[in-house]
Amino acid sequence: MFAARAVFAAGQRRAFSASARNLSKVTVLGAAGGIGQPLSLLLKMNPRVTELALYDIRGGPGVAADVSHVNTKSTVTGYEPTPEGLASALKGSDVVVIPAGVPRKPGMTRDDLFNTNASIVRDLAKAAAESCPEANLLIIANPVNSTVPICAEVFKARGVYNPKRLFGVTTLDVVRASRFVSEIKGTDPKDENITVVGGHSGVTIVPLFSQSKHPDLSSNDKLVNRVQFGGDEVVKAKDGAGSATLSMAMAGARMTDAVLRAAQGEKGVVEPSFIDSPLYKDQGIDFFASKVELGPNGVEKIFPVGDVDAAEEKLLEACLVDLKKNIAKGVSFVAANPAK
Ligand code: NAD
Ligand code: LMR
Repeated sequence: MFAARAVFAAGQRRAFSASARNLSKVTVLGAAGGIGQPLSLLLKMNPRVTELALYDIRGGPGVAADVSHVNTKSTVTGYEPTPEGLASALKGSDVVVIPAGVPRKPGMTRDDLFNTNASIVRDLAKAAAESCPEANLLIIANPVNSTVPICAEVFKARGVYNPKRLFGVTTLDVVRASRFVSEIKGTDPKDENITVVGGHSGVTIVPLFSQSKHPDLSSNDKLVNRVQFGGDEVVKAKDGAGSATLSMAMAGARMTDAVLRAAQGEKGVVEPSFIDSPLYKDQGIDFFASKVELGPNGVEKIFPVGDVDAAEEKLLEACLVDLKKNIAKGVSFVAANPAK
């Protein structure tokens, strides 16, 4: 009885805070990292964010002190790297963004990050499941194709899984696709809307140019490859100093803003995301990235893949093979190594 009343009260508070009063607490886990710092700055610049909570295993309070001097209205708090600090950072959060984890070095695939990042994400997901089970979770840490299923398993184990509120951030893939197309076509990237589906790693990234204003581009193998391996371009150029951070911060801020806009009542907010999806469940693939309409409760509508041409059909086939393995790897990891 008491628990039910408490849940009702929490639900009322959320509805009141996130929608009616437009108050939004956003928590960044991994806030002192290459992505975390510029992402925190961009979130501080977003008037929809009223409370910004910054947590990292090192340097969270320092980044918070710095960002807090930016003269926008929101409050910024940095938390100590303790279980209590993490719990306080998460309490009452509407959106939790997770860029915590190691980035690639040249020669590595995203899957090579699994051994380090799987347990980091599992433990942060556990903390979120305990402190803010109703929050929207935006996973940036790689390999996204596996870290998102890891979060789902952790939430399921605690009986608080809501598939509508778990997102793997694949925004950077559509950001890159629109930019690369604009370079070829001499257009403004903001006018390019390229659908990218599948996952967030190599051949699991499938751009669907046949559905764009430039259907001819689906036979441009060089462009398709550039979208699929755009991350490698940055990893190589940074030469051992990490992977995309600034463009990722922009993409993460865009996805966070989309979730907040929808939470605050805006209609027709559509972003791509890697989510628990019915599209390929009949093939044993429980997560898939496609265009998603967002609403006050998270995922509102999942768009089908739609018509694809023969070249894209082949890309999709290759995508599904890898995706299935990546998802299974995340699920097995939690089964063998449950969060304590
Ligand atoms: P980074 O090493 O610069 O920063 C990671 C931060 O995470 C560090 O500050 C570190 O202290 C922190 N951290 C580590 N363990 C933590 C824990 N348990 N709790 C809280 N914080 C913790 O790395 P980065 O360049 O910011 O990249 C972060 C992750 O994002 C990588 O896994 C990278 O592959 C991924 N990434 C994803 C995308 C995408 O499109 N989804 C794009 C770029 C990078
Ligand atoms: C990206 O797409 O830039 C990220 O996933 C980082 C990486 O490892 O390439």
